[in-house]
Amino acid sequence: TVLPVILAGGSGTRLWPLSRAGYPKQFLVLAGNSSLFQQAAQRLAGLGAADIAVAPALVVGNEEHRFMVLDQLRETALPLGQVLLEPLGRNTAPALTLAALQARAQGEDPVLVVTPADQTVRDEAAFSASVQAAIRQAADGAIVILGIKPDRPETGYGYIKSEADARGRQVLAFVEKPDAATAQQYLESGAYSWNSGMFVLRASTWLKALAQFRPDISQACAKAFDARNTDASFVRPDKALFAQIPAESVDYAVMEHCPGSAFALRMVELNAGWSDLGAWEAVWEVAEKDAEGNAQRGDALIRDSRNTLVHATSRLVAAVGLDHIVVVETPDAVLVADRSKSQDVKHIVAELSKRQ
Ligand code: GDD
Ligand code: MG
Repeated sequence: TVLPVILAGGSGTRLWPLSRAGYPKQFLVLAGNSSLFQQAAQRLAGLGAADIAVAPALVVGNEEHRFMVLDQLRETALPLGQVLLEPLGRNTAPALTLAALQARAQGEDPVLVVTPADQTVRDEAAFSASVQAAIRQAADGAIVILGIKPDRPETGYGYIKSEADARGRQVLAFVEKPDAATAQQYLESGAYSWNSGMFVLRASTWLKALAQFRPDISQACAKAFDARNTDASFVRPDKALFAQIPAESVDYAVMEHCPGSAFALRMVELNAGWSDLGAWEAVWEVAEKDAEGNAQRGDALIRDSRNTLVHATSRLVAAVGLDHIVVVETPDAVLVADRSKSQDVKHIVAELSKRQ
């Protein structure tokens, strides 16, 4: 069987002031008519159409967002199994480990289709086709990454060097979040893909790889999970033990170590209009725009401006004579930024958290 897993516990600080600790970006409607989390769920619901048995999904998220998860999922077609609730964020490696342990605890070894909750994908048919190809390879024990053709030297992504072989593409190197010069070099070489953050692998394969590369995380997760509490569809690892798990991403903990190891790392290309809505720049990029390149949401009036994004939530926002600017209005904070500097919003959030 195939088990969809949604990782939905991130904080999304670069989309401040709309994305907040209590209401992070994956639960916001930033593109289209549903939240990014709902879009991830809806995409996974579409997988059932093929000749593969799909189990009810697992969602791994923060305790604080449990009702938002249930409410938002109810508006999608994805059947839910359990929600694994983390008392605090320990990044994606522990989150995925909880999902794998939950699957194993039910006596199964499903192929996990692991997806982040902060992306948009335009072409759902192409998405399904790539995931199905990945599922076939993962069933034999491979770790399969969905790779994206890069179009800019983005430093916020993982880069994958791959080579065609008899069964598809073998990954030769995985480099998480390279510096700007390295990213530029990778882009120019034409040999690299971006990591979409979507992985397909058996639960047992993940647990074995983690135990090999990060036995500390593996053991700490097992302890917290063994002392879990289950309440209807909510599964809670032990709070104190969970806090002792080292924080690390899937990418640094395992993926970077796979090439050259006993674990086969493979890539399937995803050519489906993928976008990670990491920062306001990306929200502008996927938004519907007028002839001057302006995009708006909420009560906004834009005049004599170009390539500008205005996102209003509680008041009328009027913009005149702007070029390449993002304006985001919320009841208690307003962001005005150069679009090309939108990655730096995370520094504002870091400063604000020092103030509290
Ligand atoms: N449950 C849980 N717990 N989920 C988490 C946690 C956590 O502690 N931290 C992050 N997530 C979720 C986020 O909500 C998001 O959906 C997903 O896991 C990925 O985390 P991000 O924090 O958004 O990672 P990233 O964007 O910096 O990098 C990853 O994604 C890129 C593509 O978007 C990496 O996999 C990169 O290699 C990749 O290119
Ligand atoms: Mg992300």
